[in-house]
Amino acid sequence: MERLAFGGDYNPEQWPEEVWREDVALMREAGVNLVSVGIFSWARLEPREGSLDFGWLDRVIELLHAGGIRVGLGTPTVVPPAWFYRAHPEALPVSREGQRWAFGSRGAICHSSPAYQEAAARITRALGERYGDHPALAMWHVHNEYGVPVLECYCETSAAHFRSWLAERYGALKALNDAWGTAFWGQAYGDWEEIQPPRATPTACNPAQRLDFARFAGDSALANYRRERELLHELSPGVPVTTNFMVSPRQCDTIDYWRWGQEVDIVANDHYTMAEDDRNHIGLAMAADLSRSVGGGRPWLLLEHATSAVNWQPRGIAKAPGEMARNSLAHVARGSEGAMFFQWRASRAGAEKFHSAMLPHAGTDSRIWREVVELGAYVEALAPVRGTRTAADAAIVFDWQSWWAQRLEWRPSQDLDTRERAEAYYAALFDRHVTVDFVPPDAERERLAGYPLLVVPALYLTTAAAGANLRRYVADGGTLLVSYFSGIVDEHDAVHPGPHPGALREVLGLVVEEFQPLRSGQRVRLQAPMGAPPRPSGPGGGSPLTGDVWAETLVTAGAEPVWTYADGPAAGGPAITRHRHGDGTAWYVSSRLSAEDLDPVLAAASADAGIAPREDLPRDVEVVRREGESGSFVFVINHTGAEAKVPLARPGTELLTAERADGRLAVPSGAVRVVRLD
Ligand code: GAL
Repeated sequence: MERLAFGGDYNPEQWPEEVWREDVALMREAGVNLVSVGIFSWARLEPREGSLDFGWLDRVIELLHAGGIRVGLGTPTVVPPAWFYRAHPEALPVSREGQRWAFGSRGAICHSSPAYQEAAARITRALGERYGDHPALAMWHVHNEYGVPVLECYCETSAAHFRSWLAERYGALKALNDAWGTAFWGQAYGDWEEIQPPRATPTACNPAQRLDFARFAGDSALANYRRERELLHELSPGVPVTTNFMVSPRQCDTIDYWRWGQEVDIVANDHYTMAEDDRNHIGLAMAADLSRSVGGGRPWLLLEHATSAVNWQPRGIAKAPGEMARNSLAHVARGSEGAMFFQWRASRAGAEKFHSAMLPHAGTDSRIWREVVELGAYVEALAPVRGTRTAADAAIVFDWQSWWAQRLEWRPSQDLDTRERAEAYYAALFDRHVTVDFVPPDAERERLAGYPLLVVPALYLTTAAAGANLRRYVADGGTLLVSYFSGIVDEHDAVHPGPHPGALREVLGLVVEEFQPLRSGQRVRLQAPMGAPPRPSGPGGGSPLTGDVWAETLVTAGAEPVWTYADGPAAGGPAITRHRHGDGTAWYVSSRLSAEDLDPVLAAASADAGIAPREDLPRDVEVVRREGESGSFVFVINHTGAEAKVPLARPGTELLTAERADGRLAVPSGAVRVVRLD
């Protein structure tokens, strides 16, 4: 692509051919230069087993090509045709409770099914052979959102596959028995054939078994993705292959994107704002930062978002005027090489007919269409940012496997919630105008060394190696901030030897003698003692912090208490601590604070990290930098109802209005501005 990408999912098979010409003409009017085609077209491409019909797709691609529009060609393997399921009902996945899902929707796939794997490879090969070197082809879009709506399958074929996966992982049964702690409740296995997937059990199921099954399910889907990718690399050399992720922890929770990010030629992500969340731009920013991070900071592509209503949410709330552009350009600010939508033209039939589109049911005489055309021009004007990278100020450690482990049954409190903590810390950093990268707990030393501040919101499962990694980061001079119930278990969900938090005890300079989960609705107050960092101005300035859900009896071993519990089960004891370790500092927060109450804690840790506060920037005015060979770009997204004045490091040219910008940029309410600094 020579510009940023602009376009969306294009499903011409839902429309008579006469509509296609109008589609291409309107795409050109809107500045569309890339569309995703054929994602759900298997039944149209192979109406009967072995009989292929490419004529219609040839014509669609030629029309697009003649219009100068590039194609992200789908492999339609997320929905095998009805004839396939009739011949292979066993390829429909089975739930944990033993219910086999039915055809009639999408994404019902047993990833261990040999019949599915073979049929998917056949259709992928046929597409690769036919279109692999087509000049309109910009990339391959494999499958659709692995993991959504279902990833795990508990059928007999999956069970056998799981056993062979385990045999490869553990080698010997003894190793598996040790890893799963099967001495507990008499679960020891004497033969591989005795092992089953963790199907519904009368009471809590073995957590290590469940965790391994979650890993296995991801690996099975990944193997299928790789099979398609390898075919396409062979048949279509040089054309990037990707699959659309859903990295937002609100939208997919079964895929370990740290693993998948390394498997795609370009990270592609789908994101849908949660319409009823007043500040849903924070969730959007988090998803965009995660998308960039799972690719290691490389530019990525927003492959789907919505122009307005999202049909699968409880209420299809329409976006306000300007909201779509703010959403789209916020993704671009955070590294996306364009803005793509689901979908081009609103469907007349099927489950998603009330989902918004670039071309709504109302047609071109509509607000949405006018905003789409305007956005197309903005995206075109932003061509110079292509290839630049978003500059981050700090990093958050997030780990999908730890999340899976933490949310299994019978944890010390049902209110512990990895996702909620990740979102709260992210929001608190967002409100401090800190741009964040995400990193895995085992990130390389050099990668971590680039961040003055590393925040660990919830890392229940922390391998010994990850613990050592974080310790070294601090010893090297970094500032680490760890939230409660982190560092507790190893990769098999077994508690680390010694007192909690085993993997992080040394770096934090303390011991958690006792967990003190709070009763539902119970609150505790955290008091800053004399001489501790004062609470900066802000809501409730000077008053104690309030925690809920969780408290701990802490015994310091080198760390100093900075806030102590004023009441509650750990009254008088340390609540938030600071530990000098090597050349760096490690903070620990032992209760659940709201994003607002986290602010003074982050302020104190940021002071250690040398991150200056941005009191010059109003709340909900997003300022993000992209930098690279083509220049330094400052994106300002004003989510507020008032004009914002944002200081610039130096003058520059605003790309959307082509106006000069001096030291202070005025951004109207609801608007976006992008300045290329001189
Ligand atoms: C995505 C999916 C699209 C469409 C969209 C609607 O998750 O990939 O095909 O269903 O949601 O929001």
